[in-house]
Amino acid sequence: MKKRVFTAAQPSGNVHIGNYLGAFRQWAAVQDDYECIFGIVDMHAITVYQDPKDLSYRTREFAAILLALGIDPAKSAIMVQSAVPEHAELAWLLTCVTPIGWLQRMTQFKTKAARYEEVLDGLLQYPVLMAADILLYNASIVPVGDDQTQHLELTRDVADRFNRLYGETFVLPATKLPTVGARIMGLDDPTKKMSKSEDVGGHAVTLLDPPEVARKKIMRAQTDSHPEVDFQLSGPGVKNLLQIYQAFEGLSDDAMKAEFAGMRYGDLKKRVAECVVARLQPIQARFKEVMADEAGLHRVLDEGNARARTIAMETVRVAKERMGLFV
Ligand code: TRP
Repeated sequence: MKKRVFTAAQPSGNVHIGNYLGAFRQWAAVQDDYECIFGIVDMHAITVYQDPKDLSYRTREFAAILLALGIDPAKSAIMVQSAVPEHAELAWLLTCVTPIGWLQRMTQFKTKAARYEEVLDGLLQYPVLMAADILLYNASIVPVGDDQTQHLELTRDVADRFNRLYGETFVLPATKLPTVGARIMGLDDPTKKMSKSEDVGGHAVTLLDPPEVARKKIMRAQTDSHPEVDFQLSGPGVKNLLQIYQAFEGLSDDAMKAEFAGMRYGDLKKRVAECVVARLQPIQARFKEVMADEAGLHRVLDEGNARARTIAMETVRVAKERMGLFV
């Protein structure tokens, strides 16, 4: 039997090329080797206030983006967290084996909490809900970005504690970090990772940017005072552009050097812009098709939710039974 993979992301329409090259492209790539469940975690999204209309639209939009990127619903389940109530149910069971101290120590909690005067309980519980997402499906592999490794450690700690208290129940999941093309930096500031929340104009090329917008952003990307590409001396802005090209085109380091060494920055940008526009074109075309077929999209999510729920219900039943709850 194939090993099971679970991974997830919050619903967002601003998926950018950094998310694609660092994460979602890997999602599509693991589909043939593993049994995959991909979650759209809207209940994580509401740990900070979301406009309700916006959130429900973005859930569908995000599902359409995943389909456009090549996730195949015949192979993989695409599910929405809030449509499978066992996520919330298992999260409660897990809060009852999780010391508060473990949650207060999470770096993501500390960073996010520092931004608010009043800190919501949901923000503290975020990692427990994430543990529930993963443990529900007994996933043995979880592909995530390096900012999620601490949450994965917590997931294993919580699973281990449950197993010790109530008997072997959960699989301890392994973290799978992306191998190549992982860290695309901001176009406006190549010292910072390309980020979804950074919505200043020239920061990121999103997957849905029209060609002229994508081109403009790349042509304005920050470089440095060298006149031309030098694989030793060029700064982080140029390295980032090269990395974007390399990740999209799948070229070796030698092939990159042969193609770009000595090229003027203006020409480099044009080449990168054309590459990005060309690679986004089929994704955008497919996205439009998927969004136009509302019933079809709904069907995909209904099926994904149903597949996920069958597994989730059984896991919760076993966990409740082990804990002596009424089943
Ligand atoms: N916290 C993850 C992120 O921000 C999203 C997430 C929620 C997740 N549940 C998950 C990722 C389960 C992997 C597995 O990227």
